[in-house]
Parts: sequence; C-alpha cells; structure tokens
Amino acid sequence: MSKSSTPVDDDLFAFIAAATIPEDPLLRDLRAAAAKAGLPEIHIAPEQAAFLQLVLRAAKAKTVIEVGTLGGYSAIAMARGLPADGRVITHEIDAHHATFARQWIERSDQRGKIEVRLGNAAETLGALPAESADGMFLDADKTGYVTYLQHALRLLRPGGILLADNVLAGGDVAHGTDTTPVAIRAFLDAVRATPNLRSVIVPLGDGCLFGVKQ
Ligand SMILES: C[S@@+](CC[C@H](N)C(=O)[O-])C[C@H]1O[C@@H](n2cnc3c(N)ncnc32)[C@H](O)[C@@H]1O
Repeated sequence: MSKSSTPVDDDLFAFIAAATIPEDPLLRDLRAAAAKAGLPEIHIAPEQAAFLQLVLRAAKAKTVIEVGTLGGYSAIAMARGLPADGRVITHEIDAHHATFARQWIERSDQRGKIEVRLGNAAETLGALPAESADGMFLDADKTGYVTYLQHALRLLRPGGILLADNVLAGGDVAHGTDTTPVAIRAFLDAVRATPNLRSVIVPLGDGCLFGVKQ
C-alpha cells in the first residue's frame, strides 16, 4: 500500500456512505422486496450505485450493457445516469431474478429504458453488435469475467467504459485460493495484458474496476 493511502475502517466507511448521494425510496423498497422474494442480497451498495450513475453521466453514455441483473437494482441506478433515450441491456441467467427485475423496472421511473435478456450471458452477449456500447458493467459469476472481458472488448466503442464489481473478492483477491479470488486475479491479469484498456481499481464496496477502452 502506498504511504499516501488512508486506511478505511468500518467507521470511516460508514461516514463515506452517509456523505454520498442517499439511496432513494424505490431502490430501498426494491432491496427489501428482493430479500422477501428470496433473492440473494448481493446487489451493489448504494454508494456504488451513485458512483456508476455519475461515471456514466459524466461520460455522456447512452447504451450500457450489464452482466448480472439480479433484481434490477444496479440497472435502474445506471439507467438514471443516461439520457431519456438511453438504454440498459441487462443479462440474467436466473428466470426468477429476471421476472422480479422486470416487475420492478416496470414500476420504476426508468421503465422503457431497460431490457432484461434471459440466458447465459456468455452466449447472449454474442447477439449484440460490435462497438455498440458506451459502457459495460460486469457483476455476474466471477469465473465468467475473463469471457465477459473478451465480449466487452468487442462491444465497447473506443472510449467506452468498463466497470466490474467484486474485484477485491471480499478482501481475498491478493492471496486467496478459493474460486472467486483466483478468478478475479485471472480477470485482472487479462485486463492488464490488454494494451488498449487502461484501468484503476476503485475500493468502493467490494472493489470496482473502472477501465477505458482506448
Ligand atoms: C451479484 S448479482 C447482480 C447484482 C446486480 N448487478 C445489482 O447490483 O443489482 C449476480 C447475478 O448474476 C446472475 N448470473 C450468474 N451467472 C450468470 C450468467 N452466466 N449469465 C447471466 N447472469 C448470470 C445471477 O443469477 C445473479 O442474479
């Protein structure tokens, strides 16, 4: 760790979260309903949602591809960073998750801007045209990240933004030997080995990779 890095303990992190754009009632209700419907509580954190939304807005993104919809929490948050004619195409393998997400997207202020595609993203992403996306957010099975990276390099236009969650693997990314840290290290190695992709890791939530395709 660089000597200029400030360690973030739980107290400081709580302050950071509280100082960020607050979570709105719809996303708060969606989270509660998702838990009640038996969806796993693995959506991004509210401060990550704010980060994604602001990054996409600053980049003037119009078309965003997401891998891993769950209940639609991050898709709705990202859609809010896009213009009125913007579009999020989000991919989900689990039919129960996709149905829940569609219902909540429909009752959100972002209805009409988000399409949920059901299927294995490793296959369904192949249907999308090259260089058609301004941004792509990876948040599904970590063992698929290297494959999703290959799709992203085809789908993002030059200057497009790559975002990926969980790159700290719950803190185990550096030395962990379980499936997730090993998969994330392989992903980060592949990112580093891609000459036309520049990236940094933003330590928000479980770590968000932020990259730009040159
Ligand atoms: C971490 S959750 C996504 C959370 C969501 N991005 C959010 O923050 O609201 C991961 C989701 O990816 C889905 N998933 C896992 N493997 C997948 C695959 N191969 N293709 C598409 N979706 C997949 C899971 O079913 C789960 O709903």
